[in-house]
Amino acid sequence: MWRYSSVLPEVKPVTLGEGWTPMLPSRRYPNVFLKEEGANPTATFKARGLALAVTMARHYGLKKLAVPSAGNAAGALAAYAAAAGIEAHIFMPKDVPFANYVEATIYGAKVNLVDGLISDCGRIIAERKEKEGWFDISTLKEPFRVEGKKTMGYELVEQLGWEYPDAVFYPTGGGVGLIGMWKAFAELEELGWVRPGKRPRMIAVQSSGCAPVVRAFEQGADVSQMWQNAATFAAGLRVPKPYGDSIMLEILRESGGVALALPNE
Ligand SMILES: Cc1ncc(COP(=O)(O)O)c(C=O)c1O
Repeated sequence: MWRYSSVLPEVKPVTLGEGWTPMLPSRRYPNVFLKEEGANPTATFKARGLALAVTMARHYGLKKLAVPSAGNAAGALAAYAAAAGIEAHIFMPKDVPFANYVEATIYGAKVNLVDGLISDCGRIIAERKEKEGWFDISTLKEPFRVEGKKTMGYELVEQLGWEYPDAVFYPTGGGVGLIGMWKAFAELEELGWVRPGKRPRMIAVQSSGCAPVVRAFEQGADVSQMWQNAATFAAGLRVPKPYGDSIMLEILRESGGVALALPNE
């Protein structure tokens, strides 16, 4: 992702080779592409955001980072923190996928399993961070995870020949990728790097077992309400009340997009 270093902070990166993932043409639908973010280190796009957040943490001399995670951010933070020689303190719901738990533990993070959801994990960090000396790198509580994830927006435009797609379907939990890509489009236009055209419609896809953004969008609300008994096979999307909900809802409306809830199947 550091091919876009001219639009990223000018510091020495902590990198494990994240970004520039393939755009695979769909076999089933003509003109549909899948951005294969599983090709990133630790196998999700969480690597982009955490590569930059950890890069900046090292730059500022931070020694202890804490994060609540539905699973994949934990693995990514643990890997980048290990590469940077920084402590990672991770709080995850106790029923996260076992692979995420193992991954974070093996990278040397201090992993705490919580009897609750990601929102409870975030609350525990907020309560303890001052006393423990942790820097909180929760979704949207520091600026650099969005900056890292915005590189997805640059990539998909570059990989389509510097042209916008009609729409972007984004599996939405905390919404960092959606917010980051929208920021990338504004920057691309300012730089003159994208051929003039209509910005993509942004489509937030959630699971019907946890769809706070969809419900808020359908009700015309500016913020979401806590989703009760959140449950979904898509573990990364189990965010019952995203912190950046109002920003996402604004982007969905401004882009002429929509929010969709789909069942596990
Ligand atoms: C594989 C995967 N997709 C999508 C998401 C949602 O990402 P965001 O929190 O940026 O909406 C997550 C979050 O954990 C994830 O792990």
